[in-house]
Amino acid sequence: QQDPRIQRIASAIRVIPDFPKPGIMFQDITTLLLDTKAFKDTIDLFVERYKDQNISVVAGIEARGFIFGPPIALAIGAKFVPMRKPKKLPGEVISEEYALEYGTDKMEMHVGAVAAGERALVIDDLIATGGTLCAAMRLLERVGAHVVECACVIELAGLKVGA
Ligand code: PRP
Repeated sequence: QQDPRIQRIASAIRVIPDFPKPGIMFQDITTLLLDTKAFKDTIDLFVERYKDQNISVVAGIEARGFIFGPPIALAIGAKFVPMRKPKKLPGEVISEEYALEYGTDKMEMHVGAVAAGERALVIDDLIATGGTLCAAMRLLERVGAHVVECACVIELAGLKVGA
């Protein structure tokens, strides 16, 4: 049986058709952030799942993983590590390329932010093809971290994950 909080969370997410281009049904989590109960329930559900898993790193993916990741990290006693678009992080970085609908993009992580052997959780707002989350996993695995799980608020139903 589904947790009753899930329905309220789903209802608080606004869907905007044809944004940013025709044919895309944009999942707008800004309305979830306005609903204090639904926002708290979202964070609580993740915290309940991950609090006793010895996780020391929450890696949040730009941009909306920066909204959900930090409160989860604080609640489970983990550090927060931003995974950013190219040329945003000022220190030494490692980077991983991933496929977009048309072309490719890159994700970067600071060298030294995560140590070998650390247990990591990856957080984002949404999974579509899974390419973004896979790039984040590769970055963490390159430095010897163990990715316990990747977690998102929204899974686009009906999309085949091919990454
Ligand atoms: C969206 C979303 C995920 C990614 C999922 O980000 O927030 O990060 O796409 O897609 P995938 O599973 O097919 O890889 P977007 O590209 O819109 O970047 P933004 O968050 O910086 O706006």
